Amino acid sequence: MINFWSYKNEYIKYKPKFIRFFDQTLKNGQVFFGPNLKNFEYEFIKKYKSKYGVAVGSGTDALLISLMSINIKKGDEVITASNTAIPTISAIVNSGGKPVLVDIKDDYLIDTDKIQKKITKKTKAIIPVHLYGKACDMKNIIKIAKKYKLTVIEDCAQSQGAKFNNKFVGTFGSLGCFSFYPTKILGGYGDGGFILTNNFKLYSKIKKIRFYGIDTIDKKNKFYKKYYSNINGLNSRLDEINSKILNFKLSKIDDFIDKRRKIAKIYNKELKNTGLKLPILNDNKFDVYHLYTVYHKKRDLIIKKLLKEKIQTRIIYPYPIHKMKSYSNFFIGEKYKISEIKSKGIFSLPLYPDLSVKNVKTICKKLKKILLKL
Ligand SMILES: Cc1ncc(COP(=O)(O)O)c(C=O)c1O
Repeated sequence: MINFWSYKNEYIKYKPKFIRFFDQTLKNGQVFFGPNLKNFEYEFIKKYKSKYGVAVGSGTDALLISLMSINIKKGDEVITASNTAIPTISAIVNSGGKPVLVDIKDDYLIDTDKIQKKITKKTKAIIPVHLYGKACDMKNIIKIAKKYKLTVIEDCAQSQGAKFNNKFVGTFGSLGCFSFYPTKILGGYGDGGFILTNNFKLYSKIKKIRFYGIDTIDKKNKFYKKYYSNINGLNSRLDEINSKILNFKLSKIDDFIDKRRKIAKIYNKELKNTGLKLPILNDNKFDVYHLYTVYHKKRDLIIKKLLKEKIQTRIIYPYPIHKMKSYSNFFIGEKYKISEIKSKGIFSLPLYPDLSVKNVKTICKKLKKILLKL
């Protein structure tokens, strides 16, 4: 079976290192908030040229904490894309906000021409979602946000390292949110997330929120008030073992992305003119290919046949947000035409740094054969 994703090859390659990390960390005696977290946060903000950064428990928490830090209150509206992961929406709802959707374009990303129509007096923020490893059109989004004084919180869970006009996603808005879920561009061995910002006020608030509201960076008070909460917070920590592994993997991220782009290049070349709609390429965007998502009207038949050939695929995402039971009440009578069309025909092919070129070629060969016989 060619798996859609697997960490097994990576684990085999780095096993002695990972075991050493585990041993060193546990010998050190700190499970949370130790040197590994500090080093990882330092390297992450250095890599993405931001002033401040806070590691948190997950990408979902990164979004929720970001929304909490800008005081989203009941009734505040937050605009985002209709084609996104559930957590983008759950974070908005759990912060007390109301999700407002904007349909996507052919590239599966928010249609920036449709954002202004959705802005009301209650709109507080926009969450562009850099889906599948692709950067949104940040020039337009920042322009709109400035005009209407809205906060931009970037959902970079699927696009760490992607660029728009040569600038990293997560550095355009006030806050950039990342996920270290194992399948992601920087995948941990467990959950994890990160928030980037250049705003000290937001940074210090986020640091409190991730740790029960306790102020750990009170400069005047060397021994911060332990067990004293300043604002209502959460428990959202990245542990020392994952911090160590993530920091090591961060040093290799350019290589991981390079491998992903090489695999995508093979798919682009081999699957041209086969009837599949391939990912749209754009000169001013650097795509990190978290997913290689294609479209075909006969998707269900194709993925069934691929599975028979022992090739796994995934549909990301089969159900549009506005059609789900948990959220449909926010969108009664609303239609998101492109999202609905795409959700019926999209599927993603295996793509991760350790996927061998031999397997990529096998996938192409078998897929082309299936497409020819349709
Ligand atoms: C677009 C998007 N946003 C947010 C998240 C949430 O990240 P996590 O799974 O780390 O909570 C994900 C992860 O699935 C995602 O793909």
